[in-house]
This record gives sequence, C-alpha cells and structure tokens, in this order.
Amino acid sequence: MSDNVFQKCIAPDCGATYSVDEVLVACPKCGNLLDVQYDWDHMEVPKNLQHFEKYWSERHVPQRFSGVWRFHDLLPFTKLEKCVTVGEGQTILRASDGVAEFIGMNPGRVSLEYEGMNPSGSFKDNGMVAATTHASLVGAKSAACASTGNTSASLALYCSCLQTMKAIIFIGSGKIAYGKLSQALDYGALTLQIHGDFDDAMARVKEVSKDLGIYLVNSVNPFRLEGQKTIMFRILEALRWQVPDWIVVPGGNLGNSSSFGKAFHELKMLGLIDRIPRLAVINAAGADTLYQLYEKQGIRWNGGQPDRVAIQGYFDRMNAENRRASTIASAIEINRPVNLEKCLRALEWCDGVVRQVTDQQILDAKARVGACGFGCEPASAASVAGTKLLREEGVIGKDERVVCVLTGHQLKDPTATVAYHSGDPKKFDETLAVRGVTSCDFANNPIPVENDVDQIIRAIQTHQTHP
Ligand code: F0G
Repeated sequence: MSDNVFQKCIAPDCGATYSVDEVLVACPKCGNLLDVQYDWDHMEVPKNLQHFEKYWSERHVPQRFSGVWRFHDLLPFTKLEKCVTVGEGQTILRASDGVAEFIGMNPGRVSLEYEGMNPSGSFKDNGMVAATTHASLVGAKSAACASTGNTSASLALYCSCLQTMKAIIFIGSGKIAYGKLSQALDYGALTLQIHGDFDDAMARVKEVSKDLGIYLVNSVNPFRLEGQKTIMFRILEALRWQVPDWIVVPGGNLGNSSSFGKAFHELKMLGLIDRIPRLAVINAAGADTLYQLYEKQGIRWNGGQPDRVAIQGYFDRMNAENRRASTIASAIEINRPVNLEKCLRALEWCDGVVRQVTDQQILDAKARVGACGFGCEPASAASVAGTKLLREEGVIGKDERVVCVLTGHQLKDPTATVAYHSGDPKKFDETLAVRGVTSCDFANNPIPVENDVDQIIRAIQTHQTHP
C-alpha cells in the first residue's frame, strides 16, 4: 500500500506509526488506540465538497454507488477498485416536524439520518465494508467480533457475500435482540454465545483473536472507523454541504462518536468546512460510563493526557461492585467502551456534551419516531430522547439545526416494540417493568375484536383517528 497512508498511535506522547499492511488493534509500543492517517500534503485532496457531486453520475460503478466509497477521496487507504462493497450507505436524511414538535424545536430544524436502510439494517455496514476491505487486502481467512448484535449481523453479511472469510462472532448469552441473532445465524456465521455480557465477550474476543491470528473487526480496528466517517459526509451532502449545529448520536462502544469527530476534524483541517458542529453523545442510564466520566468527573482528552488514574479507579470500583450494564437499548448495553479515549478526543474537537436517558425516555421517543415514519430500534431513539433533554435544559436552542442519527432499523428488536405497544401486562412486566419503565404514553395498542363484520366495523368507527 502507499507510503502516504499509515497507522498512528493516538497518544501524542507516543505517536508511533505503522504500515497499513500490519494487522493491529492497539499500538504495540504503548497499547493505546490507532488511527488511520494520511499524508494529505502528498495526496490529491478535493478542493471543495461539491467535488463529490461528479460521482453521482457514475452510479453504474459499484464503488460509486456505495454511500461509503463515493467518498473514497477522504478515506483513501487503498485503491478504489480494491474496495469491497455490497451497496452500503444508501441512507436518507429526512426532516421530521413531528419529531421536532416532540422535542420542542421549531419546524424544519430536526432531521433524522436513517442508517437502518443499510443492507444489514444498521450503521455498522459503513464501517464493516472498510474493515473487510482491509481484511481482504491482508489476506485474512477469518474475521471475528464481539457484539450486542449489529456488528455481528454486519460482519456475517459481508463474510457471506465475500465467501473468502469466515465470520466468528461472540455474543453475550441472551443479550442480543432476536432480529440481530437471526441475521447472524441465517448468514452462516459461527456464533458463540458466551456466558456473560458484551463486556465479557469483548475481552474474550480480543484474547482469542490474538491467540489464533483471527482478524478483529470491532471498532478498535482503525479501518472500520474510517468507513463510519462517511455517515457524516452523507449528512453534509444531504444538507447541500451546510454544516448543522448539532449531531446527536447514541453512545455504546463509542466507535461512531470517535469517527464522527475524526471526520469533522479532517474536513476542517483540509479546508472543506469552515466550522465543526457540536456533538452530543447519549448514553442509556443503565450503561452510562461516558456520562459519568465526562460530565460527572470532568474527565477530558486533555491534549492526549486524560486522567487515566481516575478512569482506572472508575473501572476498579465497577469491578469491585460487580456492576453490569443494563438497558432495554441492548445495542448500547456496554459499560467498558473500548473507544473511550478516542471519544474524549472527538468531544474536544466538537465541543461535545454527553447525556444519559432512561429506558422510559428511550421508548417514548422511539414510539414518536415510529409514528413520524421512521422505524428505529431502542438504542437509536436515545439520540432523539437525548435531544429532547438537551432542549429542555436549554443547551440546544429551538432554532438550531439538529441531526439525530438513527443507528438501527425498527425490525432489529420487535420484542421491545411489541411490549411497549401491545398493552399485554405479561409482556409489559417481563420486558419493560423490570427495566423501570412504568408507562407507555405513546402506545398504539392493538384492538381485540370478534370475528364478526358488525363488531369490526364498530371497532373501526370507535377507534379511527385522522391525522
Ligand atoms: N446504535 C446501535 C443500533 C448499535 O448497534 C450500536 C452499537 C450503537 C448505537 C452504539 O454505537 O458502539 O459506536 O458507540 N452496537 C455495537 C454492536 C456495540 O456490537 O453491534 P458505538
């Protein structure tokens, strides 16, 4: 691969560099995370963002059809023709006045970036296409990940399409939503249900992939995060290259927020945008490590010297108390985010804030999002619930331009959706009450009715509502 592209340790006091031909998930010298970096001075850089519009007419080329690779010029770690694609990134940014009203914002100010439209139904395909491209370049025969469900569905999809690599996935037993488990099984991935949660599965997959020389695609893989930058590029594209005021995203393992920060930092550095939007990362209250560290303990990136003693102390206490992540938003049920330091860096670049929202707030927001024409899974709705909270606090102004990222499709987790809407006390108790959810104010209950035309007509007349 070209000398103009390399991997670099994110710790400024280390800054060691490595070839992109190496398969690394941490800096061999100091153990910190790695970035993919480009020597932009010796590469062809687009003069402006309109540059990308010329590729719209080249959609017959699979890589130009891809919503990731049509921005290849901003993630050129290999040649375009070597990039894997299954048609990822055909997503849409749509304004929703219904959601704006729910949040308390003016019409036209809230847009939702619908990543559920990806081939495996979540934003993960943006990153997985980049990771599997790199895996193919280095000749990997198997690739592994730990997952709360979407990363595994995405890896399973890419491996089944490629047929050159076997997917091996580690999931916490009973911890992933059925839609996601069904995808991994159907795509033929070797699926290991570990007795433990995501944090356990993550620790084990790191050890096992190292021991067996398996290519690891979790977001500690710097190539994956390059692909996820394109979510931001597509948002700018949909806004006709205008920078919004806020990007709001759920936070789990913190890969997305890290890559969004890198995307904007690079665009600004290259002179392609003149300001960086603010970033809001939203934790679930039952999995709120970032919130606790950033907002409560005031931990900052601090020029690459975050207070690691305080961070370690936090995790030590978590271990001592055997505290486990717990939220209905199973996708972000994570207490030990592997990208913590990169996310702190992104929060600095983007003048970011972090909030936590309860499962009640998440499910209410999800129901409003659904009723406004977007189906999303619980974790995704955290971005809308978080925006509502920030609006109530006055941090986000009524007239600011906000983009909430809807990270995954509604059909990923039908259990949570049906439990909320069904009005079935058993489902409610088993799925929601145990999470502290006490009401379903936005529920759309199914109406039981006899198998009789008159009664059906009466039911329609009684319950019919008009927009
Ligand atoms: N939303 C959804 C739907 C997710 O699946 C995830 C992460 C996130 C948000 C959080 O993103 O980790 O970049 O902060 N899911 C991972 C998985 C952990 O295994 O599928 P993040």
